[in-house]
Amino acid sequence: MPIRPAALAAACVLALLGAGPAGAVSLTPLPQSVTEHEGALPVASRFAITWTGCRDPMLERAAERFQRDLGRLTGIETFAAGGPTLEISCAAADPGALTLQAREGYRLQVAPRGVALQADGPVGVLRGLATLRQLLETDADGAASLPLVSIDDKPRFAWRGVMIDTARHFMSVATIKRQIDAMEQVKLNVLHLHLSDNEAFRVESRRYPRLHEVAGHGQFYTQAEIRELITYAADRGVRVVPEFDVPGHARAMTLAYPELASNPTAAAAGAQVLSPAKEDTYRFVTRLFDEMAGLFPDAYFHIGGDEVPDDAWAGDLEVEALKTAQGLKTKAEVEAHSHRRIHQALTRRGKIVVGWEEVIDTGTLPRDIVVQAWRTSNATSRATALGHRTIVSAGSYLDLLNTAAFHYGFDPLDTSTAGMSPADAEAARKLHPLVGRFVTDGVIVQPMAPLTPQQEALVIGGEAPIWAELISDEMLDNRLWPRAAALAERFWSPKDVRDVPDMYLRLAVQQDRLRRLGLQDQAARARMASRLAPGASEPLMVFLDLVGPVRHMAHDKRVPAAIAGKKIVQHLTALADAAPVDSLVARAFVAGAERAAAGEAADRAAVRADFAVWSANHQRIVAVAQDHPAVREALPISADIAEMAAVGTAALDALEAGKPLSPDVAARAKAVLDRADAFEAASARPIFSFFGKRPPADLLIMVTPGVRRLVEAAGG
Ligand code: ACM
Repeated sequence: MPIRPAALAAACVLALLGAGPAGAVSLTPLPQSVTEHEGALPVASRFAITWTGCRDPMLERAAERFQRDLGRLTGIETFAAGGPTLEISCAAADPGALTLQAREGYRLQVAPRGVALQADGPVGVLRGLATLRQLLETDADGAASLPLVSIDDKPRFAWRGVMIDTARHFMSVATIKRQIDAMEQVKLNVLHLHLSDNEAFRVESRRYPRLHEVAGHGQFYTQAEIRELITYAADRGVRVVPEFDVPGHARAMTLAYPELASNPTAAAAGAQVLSPAKEDTYRFVTRLFDEMAGLFPDAYFHIGGDEVPDDAWAGDLEVEALKTAQGLKTKAEVEAHSHRRIHQALTRRGKIVVGWEEVIDTGTLPRDIVVQAWRTSNATSRATALGHRTIVSAGSYLDLLNTAAFHYGFDPLDTSTAGMSPADAEAARKLHPLVGRFVTDGVIVQPMAPLTPQQEALVIGGEAPIWAELISDEMLDNRLWPRAAALAERFWSPKDVRDVPDMYLRLAVQQDRLRRLGLQDQAARARMASRLAPGASEPLMVFLDLVGPVRHMAHDKRVPAAIAGKKIVQHLTALADAAPVDSLVARAFVAGAERAAAGEAADRAAVRADFAVWSANHQRIVAVAQDHPAVREALPISADIAEMAAVGTAALDALEAGKPLSPDVAARAKAVLDRADAFEAASARPIFSFFGKRPPADLLIMVTPGVRRLVEAAGG
């Protein structure tokens, strides 16, 4: 069969892969085009690989990892020869392999005589091998095979990133490497490391050693470790883009070098903002960035530029003098002055500057600065209208603990979707006097004209940031995955790949692949549960699969404390920290309950069995809570899940008897389901999340929609 063009192919792929039987081809991100043929190629052992055009040490290491992963994915032995052939060919070497021009396209043919992987360049080989891993299947006897397929694939966007905040919580080298491993499997290609902020500076600096010695707080990457990470990422076709945030978010810098702070009287307390008026600041930033530009080989260098407070330079006479001398009127113009000088220095160093969207506030900065849109989709429109290339992160903040479906719904090229509505902004400002400071015009999204083709061409891709205020090293696997894989699909696959139920089916399969390849989400969750109830954590694991943490920072207990004038330390050891954000077990339950409501007998039996487990598990949690006080807080949530099991079982009984649910059960169902929905709604919107009623233990019940569907089907 011929390879189909992309748009048509997306529809065909969905038809092929859709809610197919377990074991059907399940790829994430979906390729541009997949054609399945009858039959399979047995894979008894490691492949016999031949190379045409592109063999090099990087690719040899990639091939060796692929052979190793065969074993991890399928359980077959891969030390001996005897497997099928894999002919790898490259159209050309690729001098732009680790740039936006990387040749990532590939074509894969799995035929009865072996596999052919034709790539546009070396990175295309990595992408093709990632797909080949995903094609592996095992049968009932444990024998491995590949389905016969033809795949033609290339990315929609060149920049497909994840940003990891290492300042708020330090992420170890091993943890970062695990994320890079997973990124390779879903074809993400940029790791943006946020390396300095108010809380810490995380890289060894030889020129300014107090940065890591004082402001690293004992946890930083040595330069050797940074080089190791960059090499590790490069081997997987992932670029590492560093960010050192200036002039705001810079308390770590002023802690180390107080003389750089604006408004020196504030410096002792740790000023957040560098002085834009001192030559010392520019000498420091230029020399530091020069050192870091040498350490990080990527062409792109992120200077932050976000969230300089309105009063950052209030009362700073040097800044007043600068404004007079340079004719600068506004805070934004002062920032632009600072950005321009830093841009000049980095450009001389051969770097391309990236900044968060505030860098376009004056609209006067050099057009070669790449803008990262984060607060609203409108920013994509504004930045590209000014001629800036743009990376879109609005709608992709994984630290806000929204579902994969939520993030999947934002397209990087949409102009009006992500952000706070004007009505919400008005209502939010009335919540508390402090809120006005955060609800600025910049966070409000307005309807905007679609991007012109010229603007669309300036959108180089998307990036999912994960800020780490509430994410420790052991939580990162859990918080990034599987949701980052849904975003990987948004950034790689054709725009019309948007079927949410199908995405979740594939996400569950892909998450299990990532686990077989080393992801630690389950192990970390089990460790956290065992800390809460040593020797008795198994019921907690069952419970955790049914719940999720409140969204939009509502779990950040430091915020209400700060509003009340108190400063507290929050330990990330609660059930809400261990809970998955978007439990795939809960998702599978909801999908099954929907089918059960529609009359599927097998699903009715499975859902009934789930209800029995939830009921029994609640009794076990009650027992565990007697000896483990940390669990007690969650008892009302566990009780509500047991109540959902009871009304859900009654709904199944009613459906099967062909009778409506009795009024008293319907009333009980309404009470428990409405309570769960009210808690869900209370944290569904940023800012409001801090003021709404929080559920016990900060836990949302993720199975609610499935139970509601059954109750409604039974006339409740
Ligand atoms: C940001 O989230 N402050 C870029």
